[in-house]
Amino acid sequence: MKKAVFYVTVLLACSSCMNRQGNTQVVNMRCEYLYAPIGIDTSTPRLTWELDNQMETNVEQKAFQIGIASSRQALETGKADVWQSSPIASGRSFWEYDGGKPLVSHTKYYWQVTVWDNKQGKVTSRIDSFEMGKLHLADWKARWITDRQDKEREASPLFRKTFEVKKDVVSARAYVTAGGYFELFMNGKRVGENFLDPAYTHFDKRILYLTHDVTRLLEKGENALAAVLGNGWYNMQSRAVWDFEKARWRNRPSLLCELRLTYQDGTTDIIASDDTWKTAEGPYTYNCLYSGDKYDARLEAEGWTLAGFNDSAWSEAIITASPTAVLQAQQMPAIQVVEEIKPTLLRSFDNRIYVFDMGENISGVCKLAVTGERGTHFTLRHGELLKADGRLEQGNINVYYHPAKPGEYFQTDMFTLKGSGQTEEFTPQFTYHGFRYVEVECDRPVVLTADNLTGLLLHTNVEQVGQFRCSNELLNKIWEATNRSYKTNLHGIPTDCPQREKNGWTADAHVAIDLALLNFDGITVYEKWMRDMIDNQREDGVIAGIVPSSGWGYGDWPGPVWDAVLFIIPNALYNYYGDTRSIEQLYPTMMKYLEYLKGMEKEGGLLDFGIGDWLSYHAQTPTDYTSTAFYYLDNRLMARFAKLLGRDATGYEKKAEALKRLLNEKFFHAENATYANGTQTAQALALYLGIVPPDKEQAVADKLYQVVADNGFFLDFGLLGSKTVLPMLSRYGYDEAAYRMATQTEAPSWGYWVKTLGYTTLAETWTLSPEFRDASLNHVFMGSISAWFYNVLAGINYDPQQPGFGHVVISPHFIPDLEWVEASYKSVRGLIKSAWKRGENGSVTLTVTIPAGCTATVLADKEYHIGSGIHSFCL
Ligand code: BGC
Repeated sequence: MKKAVFYVTVLLACSSCMNRQGNTQVVNMRCEYLYAPIGIDTSTPRLTWELDNQMETNVEQKAFQIGIASSRQALETGKADVWQSSPIASGRSFWEYDGGKPLVSHTKYYWQVTVWDNKQGKVTSRIDSFEMGKLHLADWKARWITDRQDKEREASPLFRKTFEVKKDVVSARAYVTAGGYFELFMNGKRVGENFLDPAYTHFDKRILYLTHDVTRLLEKGENALAAVLGNGWYNMQSRAVWDFEKARWRNRPSLLCELRLTYQDGTTDIIASDDTWKTAEGPYTYNCLYSGDKYDARLEAEGWTLAGFNDSAWSEAIITASPTAVLQAQQMPAIQVVEEIKPTLLRSFDNRIYVFDMGENISGVCKLAVTGERGTHFTLRHGELLKADGRLEQGNINVYYHPAKPGEYFQTDMFTLKGSGQTEEFTPQFTYHGFRYVEVECDRPVVLTADNLTGLLLHTNVEQVGQFRCSNELLNKIWEATNRSYKTNLHGIPTDCPQREKNGWTADAHVAIDLALLNFDGITVYEKWMRDMIDNQREDGVIAGIVPSSGWGYGDWPGPVWDAVLFIIPNALYNYYGDTRSIEQLYPTMMKYLEYLKGMEKEGGLLDFGIGDWLSYHAQTPTDYTSTAFYYLDNRLMARFAKLLGRDATGYEKKAEALKRLLNEKFFHAENATYANGTQTAQALALYLGIVPPDKEQAVADKLYQVVADNGFFLDFGLLGSKTVLPMLSRYGYDEAAYRMATQTEAPSWGYWVKTLGYTTLAETWTLSPEFRDASLNHVFMGSISAWFYNVLAGINYDPQQPGFGHVVISPHFIPDLEWVEASYKSVRGLIKSAWKRGENGSVTLTVTIPAGCTATVLADKEYHIGSGIHSFCL
């Protein structure tokens, strides 16, 4: 590489910055990683912020001080009447309330941070807020209610309650959840924009509740609260191999709803679910996550969500036992309609069957808008493929679905018109599907156009924080497909696929964690899922391969590689966010799990059970090698966690060392620098996990290169290789080999999927069997190539020595075939960018943006140490 010709720091002055009082601003203030949340129930909430300074470089935060008050006015007059921290000398924009004075349920708090930087001294933030939900079970006045039906009953229960508001309301909150799913209405209006709440948990152990601000939906005089419940994971109707119908928590859906009104005069009122609520059934005749929704508009009772409705024919709701031990706030983005997609109409058959194409493989549902006679029946089937004759093919995704009840069909919604003479609209409320194609069938001839159908993209609405583009369109397409696979596999938990299973497979999520966190702000979702791990663990320390699980998937398969999720994800949250909360919460779970593994050891500590490089192409990497390697990783990470929490790490350190020794004794063949049977995965995994003796690393990497070159620069691995091979080739000087592999368009390759076959998501298997059997077209677990784009092509990396991006490592690899690369990552400390492009005479210009309050090491032609600002390097 040539010497740096010059290196300049660029200031970006804009007129709006010039008008500000000072240059440093405090921005993106969050509580529990949420913007001004309401209804949080963490007694020690975390506050974070970012510094922004577009005018100056090398901005450092020297200290900060937090003030919390009971009102905005108090803070405005300098009175932090709830809590005033002392000034804390720290460069980190993070503070955790220590609970010095207990926070009070239902109370709104205002907070402000004062920062001292090295430029202008003192900067005070604007005032932000967070509001507590219910900190104690005793805060709940509402009772769980249901109707008198059994869990096999297919129709959904409806509930309603009318009440009078006599005084002026300043604030109204609905605290609500369900065994199952709920949709809530206030005076005829749907409350909030969420779908499929509450999120999936081990319901008998923990149910999450939502807090909605309903102030503006209330009226003076008579009001009505109404709800309809769905089954979700709580009351699975259909049969499939995972035994959900046998779930220990399975029951008829139930509702918990508490409306809290605060009046202008300071008094409060509570309208709580109890046996004065009325219940009936209506048009929601069936719903199931795997099958779909059925809605018969002829059964609608006009106005049932309004105050004036005559509910005298409705029954009284009954009080039922709480289905759960713990009620906890759902502190994460909800599942929402993120995009509306207009399909194209592909073909019609007999004027009764129409096949639509969404243009991309999505997760969600369709809204059907049609007119017709009373009793006209529409069936919407969803899938990822078409048969040769243009009809829908579900064979690749329906194999594990074994419906037992009549009228159950996979990924199929059904609507019956009431024949109002107007356009009737149907949107399934209690299901989602994974699909690109929709086959709509009417029971009588009908004319449909693309205007009749709208695709609703539904997933947990995490903010996209990463952007990547480069001069190779194929890589851009792979990046997009990976992001689409990631998002469409996020529904309260990270899932394997949105159609066939919708399961929280543990390894799928941990191999995807880097692409996940580099592209999406996912901490809240993963912290929630990590708590699900605690609930999932059995007394003997085992966790299931799917989380949550009510019983299926325990035992000694899938094994240590899958279970390593317990260590890998909390570790990733620490690296990306600098936050140790998951580590603290899971520490006892991890300890217990390691005890279990100890009991499973064979001679010398070897573990020989479980699955490993799942769905590899041809080469199989031995399981005793991969399982023992992950056992080593577990212990190494555990030692790190022990040190972080101020506990004794020696036992874990020793164990890790012993396992490393064992792995080298048993699997390393020094004479040809080969691990195990020398597959791409075996070689790369040893390097990635740091098992290789330092003086042998390059030889092992050379061997990896050789294996790849001998295979014509084609991949030959499964999910473990997909995470490790590209970065290890790049780390040890084989960028071009990695790039050749990444840009192949013949099978097996990512390019084969997205270019040759035109898939818009990543598939589960490298090639699809001709019978289409058992292979989803939307799995994210081979998507780690996206992390390679950021880490290697753009070179954006966290510094494991200083987690949370207070210090950033920028180490781009200028791959000859690429003209330019641009990536940005909105880290917890602010926006990081790395962009490079080729100029004349082989020069490269690299531009790096580092947020205020952060520093970076740039590894280009040499090592540069830079502070915040925009820096240009001509190389
Ligand atoms: C899932 C995978 C999962 C695997 C483990 C499959 O059915 O879809 O993604 O990790 O099983 O056995």
